[in-house]
Amino acid sequence: MTEAILLVGGKGTRLRPLTVHTPKPMVQAAGVPFLTHQLARARAAGVEHIVLATSYLAEVFEPYFGDGSSLGLSIEYVTEEEPLGTGGAIRNVASRLHSGPEDPVLIFNGDILTGLDIRALVETHTTSGADVSLHLTRVDDPRAFGLVPTDDTGRVLAFLEKPQTPEEIVTDQINAGAYVFRRSVIDTIPADRPVSVERETFPGLLASGAHLQGMVDSTYWLDLGTPGAFVRGSADLVTGRAPSPAVPGRCGDRLVLPTARVAPDAKLVGGTVVGEGALVGAGARISGSTILPGAVIGPGAVVTSSFVGAGARVGARTALTGAVIGDGADVGADNELHEGVRVWCGATLPDAAIRFSSDQ
Ligand code: GDD
Ligand code: MG
Repeated sequence: MTEAILLVGGKGTRLRPLTVHTPKPMVQAAGVPFLTHQLARARAAGVEHIVLATSYLAEVFEPYFGDGSSLGLSIEYVTEEEPLGTGGAIRNVASRLHSGPEDPVLIFNGDILTGLDIRALVETHTTSGADVSLHLTRVDDPRAFGLVPTDDTGRVLAFLEKPQTPEEIVTDQINAGAYVFRRSVIDTIPADRPVSVERETFPGLLASGAHLQGMVDSTYWLDLGTPGAFVRGSADLVTGRAPSPAVPGRCGDRLVLPTARVAPDAKLVGGTVVGEGALVGAGARISGSTILPGAVIGPGAVVTSSFVGAGARVGARTALTGAVIGDGADVGADNELHEGVRVWCGATLPDAAIRFSSDQ
């Protein structure tokens, strides 16, 4: 049986203060909690047993996913009392694994949207005989990631988490957050204390001569760590650029959940998703945006690449670009909110309160 560990925890997320009651893995991307996409993709690749290793708001996962049978999976939940770091979280769930010492165990960062061929990663692991195999991807700016130079056979030469100096930037290949571990390697991670798999386990394994194998795969890949990335990921799921068997409905320009109501002349494009019970008023134009359940978009509003939280209201003719509107916030009519603005959960903005001017 193939099994996997899904890491969802840690220091919290930048999206979380805007969705107070829901940790980010449960915020809806393309109409279902984001985690559903990862679970469904793992299942499609033959994974049957998943251990969710979490350190925060664990109580929201189990009521939603239960024993996993609705996704054809068997899911177990383990909650850390204090965040144990990525390596500590993996070690902490080792007793739940059914795999034998030589068997491959998949591990996924819980905030990644990717088209990775999971079976190919397991195959690379098996044929190379590696102790650990890692999915690698190429990015323009690797500073926010783990840098992973390899030799020409794909064998990992070093692991440099969040490189600081220009000299450290020796490659554009980064750790994409999906691994296959030989089960016995998991058991060597110290128990009961925080361990970073990136800063401690991987460098330690390399220093001891272990075989780490990289598989560069340039398929769709996105870390959903920022609200902007989350919105983009959701739109890519809707259009089908990011493949997921869990998107409810056909892929296309828009996804309107069954109980949402959209005025006939409203225009929804670019992978916009309108959640359950949300309302979109006459003449509104929404592009590449996530409108969560129960939100209201007023008539004539223009919403681009933005996130509108559950139950939030966007007034008539208000323009949003790259904005994040927290759950239950109330943005009055005729406002103009641009790149990077975040309206906190439940905050109220009067009509015509904010205009944007470049003063050019
Ligand atoms: N259970 C648990 N406990 N999970 C954790 C903990 C913890 O203490 N700390 C982090 N995680 C989970 C996060 O929820 C996330 O799903 C994953 O582990 C990675 O943590 P992030 O905090 O998102 O790390 P990052 O994005 O800065 O860097 C990681 O991902 C990059 C790819 O997106 C590293 O693995 C980098 O090497 C990698 O390039
Ligand atoms: Mg991340």
